[in-house]
Amino acid sequence: MTKLINKLTALTAYDYSFAKIFDECGIDIILVGDSLGNVIKGDENTLKVTINEMIYHTKNVAKGVTNALIVADMPYLSYENPDLALTNAKKLLDSGANMIKIEGGVGYKAVFEAFAKNNIRVCGHLGLQPQSVATMGYKVQGQTDGSASEILENAILLEKLGVEILVLECIPSKLADSITNTLKIKTIGIGAGLATNGQILVGYDMLGITSGKIPRFVKNFGKDCSVIQATKNYINEVKKLQFPNSENEYK
Ligand code: KIV
Repeated sequence: MTKLINKLTALTAYDYSFAKIFDECGIDIILVGDSLGNVIKGDENTLKVTINEMIYHTKNVAKGVTNALIVADMPYLSYENPDLALTNAKKLLDSGANMIKIEGGVGYKAVFEAFAKNNIRVCGHLGLQPQSVATMGYKVQGQTDGSASEILENAILLEKLGVEILVLECIPSKLADSITNTLKIKTIGIGAGLATNGQILVGYDMLGITSGKIPRFVKNFGKDCSVIQATKNYINEVKKLQFPNSENEYK
């Protein structure tokens, strides 16, 4: 039998029913992602998602979850200064989130410090940051020496600022490997190769029900099977290091 490695498994969910299935299948982390802008609302990006929408979806997810850690995304412009960030983070925690996630690095130093001072558990998000689509586009990040060093430096800073988990999105596998080996906190990859401490996918992508252009880091686990079976397959493949493979990664 293949030895199971203790990789963290994560999926996004936005409602009670999917959250309950993912939780019962043994997923470690459920992210109430602001990707709901794309997959629930049909928007082109995440920029129109509001804090009230995040509260609504976090409450629904929380009702379905018994074991998984619930992380809720802070939407675009909801954490522009420490006071605003604290007010909005508390709303998500009151709605059932255990941890909040924000995108960005050194530019949000004061916000991370305010979270740490108020014992708010935080997940960071570096690499491709969908809320910065206007400046970054939906492109792989960290492919030049300069940008790779910048991401690594931000990762080290976030760990110092008390971030507990770090999502790394769409970066070369080698860079994700070096960040993971430099940090003590857990990294969770999406389009970041096999070396991260865990993997995350948008739940709808994992089930193969996303329309439009499918990024190379996505695998459809829902071919000819139930949602429960697809979720179990995803968890197993992550733990057995079968997903992601070379077809899902960036150089
Ligand atoms: O909102 C989201 O779904 C995310 C994942 C891509 C990590 O932030």
